[in-house]
Amino acid sequence: MKLVQINLIVLSLLLIFSCQDDDDNFRTDNDDLPDITDIEEIDTTNPNVADNISLRELGRLLFWDPILSGEKDIACATCHHPDLGYADGRDLPIGVGGIGLGPDRRDVTSDDIGLVPRNSPTILNTAFNGMDEDGDYNPATAPMFWDVRERSLEAQALGPLLSFEEMRGHAFDESLALDSIVNRLRANVAYNNLFTNAFGQNNAINAQNIGIAIAAFERTIIAIDSPFDRYVAGNENAMSQQQIRGMNTFNRIGCDDCHSGPMFSDFELHVIGVPDHALLPSSDAGANGTYAFRTPTLRNLSMTAPYFHNGVGRTLEETIRFYRTASDAADNGGNGGGNGGNNGGLQVNPNVDVDDIDRDVERLRNFNNDDIEDIIAFIRALDDPNFDRTIPESVPSGLNPGGRID
Ligand code: HEC
Ligand code: HEC
Repeated sequence: MKLVQINLIVLSLLLIFSCQDDDDNFRTDNDDLPDITDIEEIDTTNPNVADNISLRELGRLLFWDPILSGEKDIACATCHHPDLGYADGRDLPIGVGGIGLGPDRRDVTSDDIGLVPRNSPTILNTAFNGMDEDGDYNPATAPMFWDVRERSLEAQALGPLLSFEEMRGHAFDESLALDSIVNRLRANVAYNNLFTNAFGQNNAINAQNIGIAIAAFERTIIAIDSPFDRYVAGNENAMSQQQIRGMNTFNRIGCDDCHSGPMFSDFELHVIGVPDHALLPSSDAGANGTYAFRTPTLRNLSMTAPYFHNGVGRTLEETIRFYRTASDAADNGGNGGGNGGNNGGLQVNPNVDVDDIDRDVERLRNFNNDDIEDIIAFIRALDDPNFDRTIPESVPSGLNPGGRID
């Protein structure tokens, strides 16, 4: 796949960040942001694909069809639902054994399958994962998961099918999961036709093509027309005075050291010391046991609470307040419980050596409660609620779209 460049969004960001201390001179000569046509280019570069529209529609149906799960009761949409910003609104998801949607979902079994140990990230804008400050990104190597253990939407899409807690359960052994699911789809006439249309040949149902179809659908789930984007595009009234102030504070204190570029993420791993979730049996040590996690995007956060890799940040306020604690702890070489305790709220994970906390957290400039309110207002300016929320009326298996979520 080729390297995609989205010049316009980049231009916007260059403008905004170069003008951060000089808001009056803010330039407003850019009125175009990337849209779905930029994304479509990616799929058309795949030589296996015959028809993009059929491919994306197939991907949508697969995304919603619980036929991909061991007991045929969980779909991707169970944990990535449009009503919940394509996340699930929970601190930790319930996959196998669950009934219901989002915060109301509960585990109705008494078996050994517990919570999924990490927070469901949104799939909104995952098309852009890995985008750097210049707007360059390579979909084939796009970082996936909180610990970047997978690359590309295509590869990621097969992960949940193999995961015991997410979709597989006891139905089949991990080594047999993909073959079993492929056989199920091959036995379904509608899927045979859909794969043939999308890939232009018979017998196109295989694991790789399942990943390609789901990824193509996911690339259509984008939300990048926020008040911020309109402001950058020249509409000076698109953001409130408080939001503009919040944007400047965000940059001044150093949040943009990591939450940078068009997606407000450098997509890099950093140790910031988020505490463990009390319900999990063991400490989550992140990427390679280093307690580093990947910087998430800050777009559309109003729809995807709670926050952090395990959902311990219940509100934006609690989440942002934590940086004061972490910064103090790193600065003092203390344990965050002493000085950091003054800030209340979440405490630095006691398993994290405060010397390992990222220098960019340590260097954050002081900010007070008013600053936090302004930053929250700015983050709300990154919301774009007008994304594709289509729920298919039916899926080829005849099962309930989204699984047991009613
Ligand atoms: C039981 C809930 C659950 C189900 C079902 C589920 N996911 Fe996820 N998804 C998660 C969690 C939790 C993570 C983060 C896991 C991690 O980082 O270790 C995640 C991560 C992702 C990511 C990475 C996003 C990013 O920015 O890193 C994508 C993309 C994704 N899921 C798509 C899918 C697809 C496609 C399916 C269906 C094949 C699916 N998910 C099924 C819970 C779920
Ligand atoms: C050193 C890099 C770094 C800096 C500086 C930084 N962040 Fe983060 N941010 C991260 C990482 C990494 C995570 C995920 C941590 C985790 O889940 O364990 C994160 C998570 C978040 C989240 C949660 C988003 C979600 O979807 O869960 C918010 C909100 C946030 N940061 C806001 C801020 C603000 C506001 C500032 C400035 C006060 C800031 N960040 C400074 C790296 C950084």
